[in-house]
Amino acid sequence: MVSWTCLLFLLSQCLLVSTYFGRANAQTVPIVPGLSWNFYASTCPSLKSTVREQLQIVLNQDIGQAAGLLRLHFHDCFVQGCDGSVLLDGSASGPGEQSAPPNLSLRAQAFRIIEDLRRRVHQKCGRVVSCSDILALAARDSVYLAGGPDYDVPLGRRDGLNFATVNATLANLPPPSSNTTALLNSLAQKNFTATDVVALSGGHTIGISHCISFTGRLYPSQDPTLDQTFARNLKRTCPAANTDNTTVLDIRSPDTFDNKYYVDLLNRQGLFTSDQDLYTDSRTRGIVTSFAVNQSLFYEKFVVAMIKMSQLSVLTGNQGEIRGNCSARNSNNLWLSSTVEETEKGSYSAF
Ligand code: HEM
Ligand SMILES: *[C@@H]1O[C@H](CO)[C@@H](O)[C@H](O)[C@H]1NC(C)=O
Ligand SMILES: *[C@@H]1O[C@H](CO)[C@@H](O)[C@H](O)[C@H]1NC(C)=O
Ligand SMILES: *[C@@H]1O[C@H](CO)[C@@H](O)[C@H](O)[C@H]1NC(C)=O
Ligand SMILES: *[C@@H]1O[C@H](CO)[C@@H](O)[C@H](O)[C@H]1NC(C)=O
Ligand SMILES: *[C@@H]1O[C@H](CO)[C@@H](O)[C@H](O)[C@H]1NC(C)=O
Ligand SMILES: *[C@@H]1O[C@H](CO)[C@@H](O)[C@H](O)[C@H]1NC(C)=O
Ligand SMILES: *[C@@H]1O[C@H](CO)[C@@H](O)[C@H](O)[C@H]1NC(C)=O
Repeated sequence: MVSWTCLLFLLSQCLLVSTYFGRANAQTVPIVPGLSWNFYASTCPSLKSTVREQLQIVLNQDIGQAAGLLRLHFHDCFVQGCDGSVLLDGSASGPGEQSAPPNLSLRAQAFRIIEDLRRRVHQKCGRVVSCSDILALAARDSVYLAGGPDYDVPLGRRDGLNFATVNATLANLPPPSSNTTALLNSLAQKNFTATDVVALSGGHTIGISHCISFTGRLYPSQDPTLDQTFARNLKRTCPAANTDNTTVLDIRSPDTFDNKYYVDLLNRQGLFTSDQDLYTDSRTRGIVTSFAVNQSLFYEKFVVAMIKMSQLSVLTGNQGEIRGNCSARNSNNLWLSSTVEETEKGSYSAF
């Protein structure tokens, strides 16, 4: 017979544990000071349901947007930390990036979805939730709604005041032509292990790429590691190196967040050198195979790596700000500065 005291004790232990560790796995993913799993529990209890319910509607209409949102979060975190800087108008990898040398081709629609979510969230709770947190939540919901694992992300990020320089952007985002050595070295600077690198690359189980990102493997000569039929089809999609066309990243299940990306690699059907070389290189080959044969294992490692990624150089506490427009810092937000006080909930979001 279990007493109520005992049950209450177990419950409190469980709550205590879940304060520190994510729900999708029992493994310990440490969280940085200033972030917490229940950051908005009292200030915006409807946050998570607002984001998930709206994304459900958006992704029902176009599941492709899940890939756009996941990649946007990745770019935010890798360059100058998860501070929403990628969202700022004029950012080297954000909207209106005419000056960015590599066309990073983030989807314009992803920026609009985030700003729309911000408007909905602020309408309900006031300007208390950061754009960087909304982006982190949108990325994890995209993974789940595309068929992947459901996991918690720690919250409490603040939005940065400045976007990164073009150089910083280039230095932090490895090109798709990278081999495994380059990839491991680049991501080791952010404390990612080889397992993290292989798991994060699994983000390429959804979404698309433009020809220019992989035609270096087709022209002038064909990368011998490419499967012949796969290469022939890529050449049909991209008859020239700079053809403005796109193809899917995971030919087996392009819209589903599963482990088929790793099965592609086993069959020499990885789209980028950075993908395929993970199977060629002896240091990562075993990890690729283990994910290809065990989707649960991939999900487990992906969640660990995503929670790590989502905490890169975050601003917390009184650092940064909570933007009232994800594309502009508050001092550049004409609406905010011309408004006497934002006392009325959502008054500024009725545009
Ligand atoms: C590790 C090094 C990585 C490289 C070199 C890389 C490179 C690329 C490139 C070149 C594209 C296609 C861009 C285009 O031509 O349109 C792309 C797309 C994408 N990447 Fe990565 N990526 C990396 C890591 C990641 C990570 C960590 C994630 C997320 C966890 C991710 C998620 C995506 C998604 C979802 C797309 C498709 C975007 C869309 O359909 O709009 N990538 N990546
Ligand atoms: C980048 O590519 C997108 C999509 O192909 C295109 O709309 C945009 O104009 C390009 N931007 C630059 C700066 O080349
Ligand atoms: C950016 O990088 C290029 C090439 O590495 C270098 O020549 C240039 O001085 C850098 N610009 C700034 C502002 O750091
Ligand atoms: C990997 O790429 C680097 C350049 O980024 C090059 O120096 C190195 O030789 C390459 N390694 C292999 C094994 O191809
Ligand atoms: C990587 O880990 C070291 C040691 O724990 C830490 O000092 C450093 O800030 C970490 N780097 C990043 C980018 O998180
Ligand atoms: C774009 O790719 C599709 C699918 O492979 C192909 O049918 C089409 O001809 C390509 N368009 C161009 C302009 O090459
Ligand atoms: C697959 O991975 C999960 C998660 O780590 C593990 O519990 C399970 O035993 C693995 N399954 C097989 C068949 O190895
Ligand atoms: C948000 O900021 C961007 C960039 O300054 C601006 O173009 C846009 O009109 C603003 N949106 C609203 C609703 O004020």
